[in-house]
Amino acid sequence: MSVFKHPGAFVRKLAVGASMAAATMLPLSQAAADTIKIGYMLPYSGTFAQLGEMITDGFNLALKENGGKIGDYDVEIVTLDDESNAGRATRNMQQLVSGENVDVVVGTVHSGVAMAMVRVARQQGTILIIPNAGLDAATRQLCGPNIFRTSFSNWQPGYAMGHAAYERGYRNVVTMAWRYGAGQESVAGFKEAFEELGGTVTREFYVPFPEVEFQAQLTEIASMQPDAVYVFFAGGGAVQFVRDYAAAGLKDRVPLIGAGFITEGTLQAQGEAAEGVLSALHYSEALDTEENQAFRQAFHDEYGKYPDIYAVQGYDAAKLLIEGVNQAGTKSRDDLIHAMRNVELSSPRGPITMSRSHNPIQNMYLREVQNGENVVIGTAYEMLEDPGTGCAMRDVN
Ligand code: PHB
Repeated sequence: MSVFKHPGAFVRKLAVGASMAAATMLPLSQAAADTIKIGYMLPYSGTFAQLGEMITDGFNLALKENGGKIGDYDVEIVTLDDESNAGRATRNMQQLVSGENVDVVVGTVHSGVAMAMVRVARQQGTILIIPNAGLDAATRQLCGPNIFRTSFSNWQPGYAMGHAAYERGYRNVVTMAWRYGAGQESVAGFKEAFEELGGTVTREFYVPFPEVEFQAQLTEIASMQPDAVYVFFAGGGAVQFVRDYAAAGLKDRVPLIGAGFITEGTLQAQGEAAEGVLSALHYSEALDTEENQAFRQAFHDEYGKYPDIYAVQGYDAAKLLIEGVNQAGTKSRDDLIHAMRNVELSSPRGPITMSRSHNPIQNMYLREVQNGENVVIGTAYEMLEDPGTGCAMRDVN
C-alpha cells in the first residue's frame, strides 16, 4: 500500500487484490468528523486507463484550486483500480463503502462496473458521484437520492447524433459498437432519434468488450454502402477503430459518425485517420468560453497536458461536491444531498443543472475533426435532458 500526499489532501492507494476479503473486514479507518473521505474507484489499467487518469487529474485540480479543502473539511482520498472489471465491481465497491468507510465514492468509467456500484450505493446509502459511466439506468430505474452523475447518460450523445445525422441528410445508417451496456445504449439513443425522424438503422454490428478486432465487420460494411456508420468506442478501442476504418479504405467513402468519445483524448494517436469524423458530445476542446479557456490553461499548467471531456467530468464531480458542501454547510448526508440536487455549474463544457433524476442537463455539440481538433460546427441538441424514465424521485423537488 503506498501513501503519498498532494497539496492539502491525504491520498492512499488501496492494494487491490490483496485485501479482497472485504465483506468480513473490519473498517480500516473511520472518516474523522473534520475530514471528508473520498474513494476514487476508477480504471487505472486496461483500455480505459487514460480515462481514469484524466478524471482523477480533473478532480484533483478542482480540489487544489479550492485550497485542498472542501468547505471547512480536510480531504482524505483512497484510490482503487477497478480495471473496468464488472465481475469484481461489487467487492471493490463494498471495500470502499464498508471497509474504508468513505463519505463519498467517485466512479467510474465503465457502465457494467457502474451498475454494481449503483446497486451497492442504493443498499448502503453512500453518496456516489459518477464522473463518466453513461449507464442509462443509473439515472432512470436505478436512480437514488444519493446517486449523482456529472457526465451524461449513454442515451444523450446518441440521441443528439441521431438528430444531427438526419438533418445532414443521412437516411440509411449502419452502427457498430462494443457489446455491453454503453455500446448498446448509445446505439439505442441514436436509433430512437434517427428513426423517429424517418431514418433507418439497417444493421447493428457488435464486438465483445474490450476487443479491438474489427476487420470482419469493416469488410461487410464496405460491401453495404450505407450513408454513414455510427459508432460507440472509447479510449484505446477508439484509437484502433478509427485507424482501421481508414486503413480499410472506408474513410473517404462512408462518413464515420459517433458519440464523441470516438475522437476524445485520442486525436494525437489517430492522426490523419480521424480527419472529418463527425460526433456529438457535451464538450469540445475548441469551445470559446472564458470557463473553458481558464480550465484548459490551469490544467495544462498543473499537468503539462491538455484536458479532454473525462478531465472536465472529474473536475465537475469535485465542483458538485464542493458547491454542495458550501451550500449545505455540512457533509451530513441528507443536507448534502439536498444541496447537491440544486447545484448549477458554469462548467468548461457550458452550463449544467441537475435533472430531477440527477443527470446533467447540457448542450450536445456537433463536432468535426479538422486539423487534429474537434471543431464545433453546431449544436446537435440544446440543453438536452435525459427522460429519466422509471426514476421515482423525478417528481420530487
Ligand atoms: C461507459 O461504459 O459508460 C463508457 C465508457 C467510456 C466512454 C463513455 C462511456 O467514453
